[in-house]
Amino acid sequence: MSDIVGKPLRSAPEPAFDPADQNFVADPYPVFAAMRRQAAVHWHSQLGYAVAVTHAACSAVLRHRSLGRIWTDARPEEQFTAFNLLHRNSLLENEPPAHGRLRRLAAAAFSRGHVDRLRPWVTRRAQALVDQLAERIATEGSADLLAILAAPLPIEVITELLGIPPADRSVLRLWSDSIVKMYESDLDPAHQRDAEQAAADFTAYLRDLLAQRRKFGQPGNDLISDLIAITDVDKAQLSEDELVATVVLLFMAGFEASVNVVGNGVLALMRHRDQWQRLIDDPGLAASAVEELIRYDSPLQLFERTAIAEVIIAGHPVPAGGKIAALLGAAGRDPHAFFQPDRLDISRTPNPHLGFGAGIHYCLGAPLARIEARDALLALCQHLPTLELAGQPRQRPEFVIRGLDHLPVTASVGHRVVR
Ligand code: HEM
Repeated sequence: MSDIVGKPLRSAPEPAFDPADQNFVADPYPVFAAMRRQAAVHWHSQLGYAVAVTHAACSAVLRHRSLGRIWTDARPEEQFTAFNLLHRNSLLENEPPAHGRLRRLAAAAFSRGHVDRLRPWVTRRAQALVDQLAERIATEGSADLLAILAAPLPIEVITELLGIPPADRSVLRLWSDSIVKMYESDLDPAHQRDAEQAAADFTAYLRDLLAQRRKFGQPGNDLISDLIAITDVDKAQLSEDELVATVVLLFMAGFEASVNVVGNGVLALMRHRDQWQRLIDDPGLAASAVEELIRYDSPLQLFERTAIAEVIIAGHPVPAGGKIAALLGAAGRDPHAFFQPDRLDISRTPNPHLGFGAGIHYCLGAPLARIEARDALLALCQHLPTLELAGQPRQRPEFVIRGLDHLPVTASVGHRVVR
């Protein structure tokens, strides 16, 4: 039994949040601050596991080798066949040795130049989408930044990276949105059925796509082609189910978080005009701005781990088989890790946020995600410096994947304010 943060052992107090409470979802940060003042780790009876709220405790949860992502099938198993297949075979849901094998393959495929190949393309697409946003503002007075820029950019990038036909983007997005709802607590049966159906449809779609690629023998310059080549040489390296699960994971991971980095990030900048102006005056701050926006309002709020042996985190014992979660948004506002954490400072350095995770599951797509978010911000600063909110943004009701589903903006386009 190890106490990795070295605090005395004590029972954790009950926390004060309900993940379905919309007042909490609208602004969870004051609640996190109150929790942090009480203790680093809290028992959460509604979730049925402990939650870590300080930076040190969250970092420990993500890095401790006796805490892993141990997949347990959704039940009843016969109702979640496709959902379970996709997750059981995903690198994100596995620990060593399977995790290392799958991660090496996916990382090798990434490093075969795919990110470099995409870099100029992402810049061009970000500029083109911002142009569309400007046109919509010019004709209609305002436009939804989520619908025109924040959502299309990551979906275009991830489908280009994978080699998925552009015409299929919108249906894949619907499937992805249904599947990730399962990551929230207390999902109702209708949404659970939708998630399983989406997992089954996504799996069938990919098996068909893989069959077509093999039949016509046209390997492309994309990640799916690289992964097919590995499977076809040695199924022990990457089975067909693992191939499908890897593609679905890359799609969902590549889309669901990135859309909210741009959405939450632009909202934060609109509410902190001084920081928006700093970015316009000095576009060289774009890279540190992306890190700060992820810290300030993390698009992914909660990651669970299961103890494979008893562990103590900040004095809180987690028995073997018990669970604990890292609350990344709470870690990002910890005053022991960040000076004036509630202040948005786009030049914050250093910025050791945990928004991309830590330890062996550290985000594989972070370099690509950073390029996307940076290019979106730069294109907005350069082409729409007078950007401002044109109404109330609408928050999505989910807690774990934190984001907006509507962000109305306006700007003066062509030297006149259009409203
Ligand atoms: C800004 C956007 C993104 C954020 C905030 C983000 C965040 C994260 C986090 C927190 C984890 C760790 C999960 C855990 O520890 O349990 C993770 C893992 C992962 N992410 Fe991302 N991600 C982003 C974009 C992407 C993109 C664009 C891709 C792929 C194209 C991607 C692929 C992955 C993969 C494959 C993993 C699993 C790694 C493993 O299990 O070893 N992510 N991401």
